[in-house]
Amino acid sequence: MSTPWDPPRVLVTAGPTHEPIDAVRVVANRSSGRMGIALAEAAARRRMHTTLLLGPTALTAPTGPLIATLRFETAADLRSLLKEHWPRHDVLFMAAAVADYRPAAPQPGAKRRRTGDRWTLELEPTPDLVAELAASGRPDQVIVGFALEPADELMDSARRKLHRKGLTAIVANPLEAMGAEQSDAALLLRDGRILKPPPGDRTKKALAEWLLDQVATWHDAPPAR
Ligand code: CTP
Repeated sequence: MSTPWDPPRVLVTAGPTHEPIDAVRVVANRSSGRMGIALAEAAARRRMHTTLLLGPTALTAPTGPLIATLRFETAADLRSLLKEHWPRHDVLFMAAAVADYRPAAPQPGAKRRRTGDRWTLELEPTPDLVAELAASGRPDQVIVGFALEPADELMDSARRKLHRKGLTAIVANPLEAMGAEQSDAALLLRDGRILKPPPGDRTKKALAEWLLDQVATWHDAPPAR
């Protein structure tokens, strides 16, 4: 590690993306942003300068002298914000539920009228934002991804994503965690370790505190990406 963080500057992404279909309709997902908001609040409580990139959510954005919150709607908005802000941060928690597909020909200036016909919407893939960052950032930057997986393939699929995307670590979440208050998550590291929060409090607030405890232990030598 070239420059030990003292304290680290933390970047958090949270919430869903909204990809426009037309002026009134979007392709969205059920993410609430709760996990990322809890991480940003916990980091600021620890006196870490924190930037929260927050998608469209009904939850209230956190405030405080150490938290700057910026809003995004689409994966493209989030991509630009990450490009601008990631170079000045040491740790990224990529908790946003980024759309994997978006309308290929959005009509943001018009409302499509109802007819009796079927409507086929063509979707195109979005870029993998966290994989792009991991491929281009400084080697000392820590990147924690979040995987949402069916229970029967939770660990295997999360491990594949950890390696494919070039992350430092990944939080494996069962599908039921999306939009919920609680999660039974585990943290997978590149060296094969699987860390689990202590039994008891399963709220995302408690998970956020525990994740920050883990990252704090990497202060002098973060695990390789
Ligand atoms: N992610 C991203 N850009 C995308 C999609 C996902 O940066 N276009 C990030 C998420 O923020 C998360 C991690 O990748 O930190 C894993 O997201 P997930 O949806 O679980 O994985 P996918 O890459 O979408 O893979 P799959 O569709 O196979 O589940």
